[in-house]
Amino acid sequence: MLPRSLLLSVAALAVACQPAAEIEQEAEPLPLGVPINAVMVALIDFAADGVWRPAASETPLTDEQWLLAEQDAVNLIASTTLMTTPGTGTNDAAWVKDPDWRRWTTEMRTVAIEAKAAVDTKDQARLGLVGDRLVELCQACHQKFKPGLPSMGITRFPIYPKRDGTLTPP
Ligand code: HEC
Repeated sequence: MLPRSLLLSVAALAVACQPAAEIEQEAEPLPLGVPINAVMVALIDFAADGVWRPAASETPLTDEQWLLAEQDAVNLIASTTLMTTPGTGTNDAAWVKDPDWRRWTTEMRTVAIEAKAAVDTKDQARLGLVGDRLVELCQACHQKFKPGLPSMGITRFPIYPKRDGTLTPP
């Protein structure tokens, strides 16, 4: 293995060889190619459920269930970055600029990080408290921003697929 200092100078050299404009461009996040609404349905809803479900379990969670909860907590953390990135949805640009949107998304990020910490310490009671705060945030934001009917016709898959591949009613 190369010494760390050598590795770093090789990396520095590689960066130095690239034109500045290219580096600038690479630092920009890639655009979100779907509506935020679709992220809500395909990612956030599932990830949040992955926090609420284990928290509500009446029996201690197995290692496998903790592993699953960890992945959902990670998805939830990552999703908050997507929620602050305007995608192709009609209202995305206006939403991400709104101070309330920013505030609730920031709080959701904090709560999601706490969910991950609860999972890391296998603390089911703490996961439950975090889940309660999470649901309040979903509701607060939906109350202000979510129209009565889905604005883009994007709705959740009506049957929740269990991780073992079987289908269960929602
Ligand atoms: C920062 C604001 C915000 C937060 C926080 C938020 N949502 Fe949403 N969500 C929206 C908006 C706005 C829509 C509606 C999009 C539309 O129809 O135009 C939506 C739509 C949805 C939908 C699609 C179904 C429907 O009725 O349109 C689901 C499912 C959903 N959200 C789940 C969640 C969950 C679960 C959480 C919390 C973990 C959450 N959302 C947190 C803003 C938010």
